[in-house]
Amino acid sequence: MTKRSEPADPCFASENTASPASSASSDVSAQRAGPCAIIIFGANGDLTKRKLLPALYNLATEKLLPSEFAIIGISRTAINREVYQNKVVQDLTEFSTGKVDARLLDWFRERSYYLAGDVQNTALYQQLATLLNTVDKAHGTAGNYLHYLATAPGHFGDITQQLANAGLTQENAKWRRVIYEKPFGHDLDSARALNRDVKKVLGENQIYRIDHYLGKETVQNILAFRFANGIFEPVWNRQYIDHVQITVAETLGVEQRGEYYEQSGALRDMVPNHILQLITLTAMEPPISFEPDAVHNEQAKILQAIQSFTPETIATRAVRGQYGKGCIEGRAVDDYRAEPKVASKSSTETFVALSLSIDDWRWAGVPFYLRTGKRLPKRVSEIAIQFKCAPFVPFRKTQIASLRSNELVLRIQPDEGISLRFEAKVPGSIMRLGPVNMDFKYQDYFGSTPSTGYERLLYDCMIGDATLFQRADMVEASWAVVQPVLDAWKAQSAGDFPNYPAGTWGPEEAQKLLARDHRAWRDSA
Ligand code: BG6
Repeated sequence: MTKRSEPADPCFASENTASPASSASSDVSAQRAGPCAIIIFGANGDLTKRKLLPALYNLATEKLLPSEFAIIGISRTAINREVYQNKVVQDLTEFSTGKVDARLLDWFRERSYYLAGDVQNTALYQQLATLLNTVDKAHGTAGNYLHYLATAPGHFGDITQQLANAGLTQENAKWRRVIYEKPFGHDLDSARALNRDVKKVLGENQIYRIDHYLGKETVQNILAFRFANGIFEPVWNRQYIDHVQITVAETLGVEQRGEYYEQSGALRDMVPNHILQLITLTAMEPPISFEPDAVHNEQAKILQAIQSFTPETIATRAVRGQYGKGCIEGRAVDDYRAEPKVASKSSTETFVALSLSIDDWRWAGVPFYLRTGKRLPKRVSEIAIQFKCAPFVPFRKTQIASLRSNELVLRIQPDEGISLRFEAKVPGSIMRLGPVNMDFKYQDYFGSTPSTGYERLLYDCMIGDATLFQRADMVEASWAVVQPVLDAWKAQSAGDFPNYPAGTWGPEEAQKLLARDHRAWRDSA
């Protein structure tokens, strides 16, 4: 999202390469990234096969990958290059978002390399340096490296230091960048420590802290919706908005991730990253440009303005839950404690609801309610802006005693789109009102563009645009918001778990959170 330098000739755009100052991937004039190699730590993991490889494939089909390109996979599994090459082709065939082309698969095959080893072993990085030398010569990747750390987060600090020791992060007329998968830290202290560690060897401009929600078109569209239209900003404040509801609901349980999730829980897993990103984009002031720092400064201000939780507000404004047995989409499902690698008396929350206040001029007095959880009745991520009701009921001598408020819903997934609810006269000889929706669906206007959500983020990193990544202070400010709740919940485990049946909208307390303010969750019945 950095400023475009020269408008490219559309006839040749796909054959040019992007300078670090060029722009977004999905633009008609987006250019190929410059020569580079991507080094994936965690090459045998789920993220690599389901998201990263298919995203690289999509970038190649969009002609946004350079022809001077290579992939180096690193993982502990002892396999040779040929086996890895076959795996890349197999994963692309299985997980691509569209039809695969045999010639393009060959293109990926011939530029895929593999190193087996333990990321703690110094020798691995020497081997990597040697291999990258060979790759640079064979594929013209020019010493530009994108290191993607898709390993357990506990290794991030070590890997960064080892890469630096092996001379693989130094930028002399080349670029060297590192993408850190989520989670960046486990709490505020560990996030600070990790920031300190990685900044010892990298400049902030080399550090890309990823949050895959920012790769979603619909999340990026929040900025377009707010700042490319004149009619919404004037009402986007406490004078017109009553409150905001953010729901990120999943029907899935923890699947095979019990080990990770037991250490994480719903609060850590979703709030300081995905949901706070949604809140910052919804609440931030218009940035003076779409340069990374201009956008990040405004996002950071919102994070700093979120009122800190105290023991008293945790009791009334924070709710946790854990699912018991229940029924999802007509299918009986087990309780969380019966999931693989979950303790039989686990006190990990699988649901969280919070009420946040943003203490700034625009939002004072407007609660931001958020809820997220596993095994809820439907899969939906959305931001609902609830406007204030009209100030009085002008329909005298009718049966209309009260008015419903207008509601604007930004649907992030599925069924991506935006809808505005307003009141209309129901046809007939007496005055009656009924709610109607003005509905925009992405699919209707733009068709479906299958993507993993990682394309834009990978491409942006290759061209040096950090707008959709998180800056160090943002990560720390996000952890600071949830830290008091993490501490309080750790100090006192919930006595009533499991407290919601799978397939329901969380514990009763989540309803009370809004009922106390004389409000209710939309669609929560
Ligand atoms: C991940 C969480 O970051 O986001 C998962 O670790 C969660 O627990 C996932 O399921 C949700 O992402 P999406 O894109 O499916 O909404």
